[in-house]
Amino acid sequence: VNAPRKQATAALTATALLLVIGATADAAELSAAKPCPLPKRPPGTVSEPGQALRRTGRCVPQERERIRTVGIPPYTDGSTGLGDPYFPSAGNGGYDAKNYDVTLAYRSPDKHIDAVVKMTATATQALSGFSLDLRGLRVRSVLVDGLPAVFRRERQELMVTPATPLPRGRSFTTVVRYSGRPGPLSGPMLGTYGWIPTQDGILTLSEPDGTPTWMPVNDHPRDKATYTFRVTVPNWLQVIANGEPRPPVRGAATTTYTWVERSPMASYLAMIAIGRFRTLRGRAGSLPVITAVDPQYAGAAGKLHRTTIAVLNWQRSLFGRYPFATGGGVIDDPDVGYALETQERPVYAGFVPDTDFIVHELAHQWFGNSVSLTAWPDIWLNEGFATYAEWLWQEHRTAKAKKGRRDTAKKIFTRYYRQPADSPIFQPPPGQPGRRDLFGFSVYIRGAMCLQALRQRIGDRAFFRTLRAWIAERRHGNGRTADFVALAERQSGRQLDRLFHAWLYAKGKPRDW
Ligand code: TRP
Ligand code: ZN
Repeated sequence: VNAPRKQATAALTATALLLVIGATADAAELSAAKPCPLPKRPPGTVSEPGQALRRTGRCVPQERERIRTVGIPPYTDGSTGLGDPYFPSAGNGGYDAKNYDVTLAYRSPDKHIDAVVKMTATATQALSGFSLDLRGLRVRSVLVDGLPAVFRRERQELMVTPATPLPRGRSFTTVVRYSGRPGPLSGPMLGTYGWIPTQDGILTLSEPDGTPTWMPVNDHPRDKATYTFRVTVPNWLQVIANGEPRPPVRGAATTTYTWVERSPMASYLAMIAIGRFRTLRGRAGSLPVITAVDPQYAGAAGKLHRTTIAVLNWQRSLFGRYPFATGGGVIDDPDVGYALETQERPVYAGFVPDTDFIVHELAHQWFGNSVSLTAWPDIWLNEGFATYAEWLWQEHRTAKAKKGRRDTAKKIFTRYYRQPADSPIFQPPPGQPGRRDLFGFSVYIRGAMCLQALRQRIGDRAFFRTLRAWIAERRHGNGRTADFVALAERQSGRQLDRLFHAWLYAKGKPRDW
């Protein structure tokens, strides 16, 4: 098949026609300029004459081809959910998001936003249409590969039909312009999350499905992507976000802050904080560390900063190299009752964290952020591991104390194991907690107890080798419980089904394993 040559001729003819019709243009200027290149046509397609494009730059616009596909499987819409057992309509099928470029202008005092999100993605099937997750807000336009697309809203989906279908494997851009006043979500056991107003601005904390309250996104940890945030605020405000800062650009009344997250990130970890901050910069070894605290907590900035550095250094020696470009932490004022391990820079909301809390959120940078969930029922892979990191910290911190005063993970396990069988630390089973108990005690504590049970079964060497291999093999990727079990069995040479079944899936207090 050598369609391309024929089409080139057709395009040239079309250009010639346009030149004749283009009466308003300066003829001499036009004939001197080169024809604009047409966008690449995917293999297996033919083109038909389309509408003329507007004149751009120094080239003569050609007719835009209308691409028609021939002889390849039918184009279908990507699914409007990824079928997660707990969040069936979160995420979308048919494409793989690679990057989100988020440009957002924030207005004070009404906290209104005008935003443009450009998603670069690859079609994983022949696509006639696809969805993004977005809740509320007013969508003004959607462009796919620069051309206006048809869109409609249906519950939490923004459904997009591009002007031309997208062949499988094709990289494409989607630009969504939208505006409005985002608001938070709240759910049983989840508290307040998503876009949360603060005294002096806003803060986003979006686990598990809150990011669509403020940006269109493929909202599932299975589709990680890189992000750039460019946020424009009145001059008296500042912006903190994930990743590395670029120099702010100050205008007459507003300043634009840019933050770049260069490592793949699960959507629920995307964070922007708008407000006033006391910011400290330092390093843990060669790793840049940025700590930012709301002025109400200014007195705690130094301690948070130093503790973050100390904990990161210790965790690197335990888990292996830190997975991201920077570290840090944020304290801001909404008292939502939890912290979140937002990538590179966890947020402690409404309180000054103690060291255990910092250990927990920073452990998530390895367990949860670098190695992410494949599905939400596996949440213990995040929370059980981060809680176990707290136990390891206690063990490390008291290692040089007299024997009776050492607080080993084994001792902590034993203390919990003495709890009555009907304690919420044992119910529901953490490997299948149900959506309501995603962040319940058993996910955290029985999840961590599972790791201690594993350690006692296979010994310290195989146990820490398993943790490090998990992190190294799946860096910037995803994992499932079954993958972890298989890895632990490989590293230890033991059959561990019974142990994991007892600790993760069996009802009631685990007895024999
Ligand atoms: N991942 C958070 C942590 O453990 C926990 C979390 C997120 C949470 N949202 C929540 C806990 C809502 C309770 C309620 O650091
Ligand atoms: Zn956690």
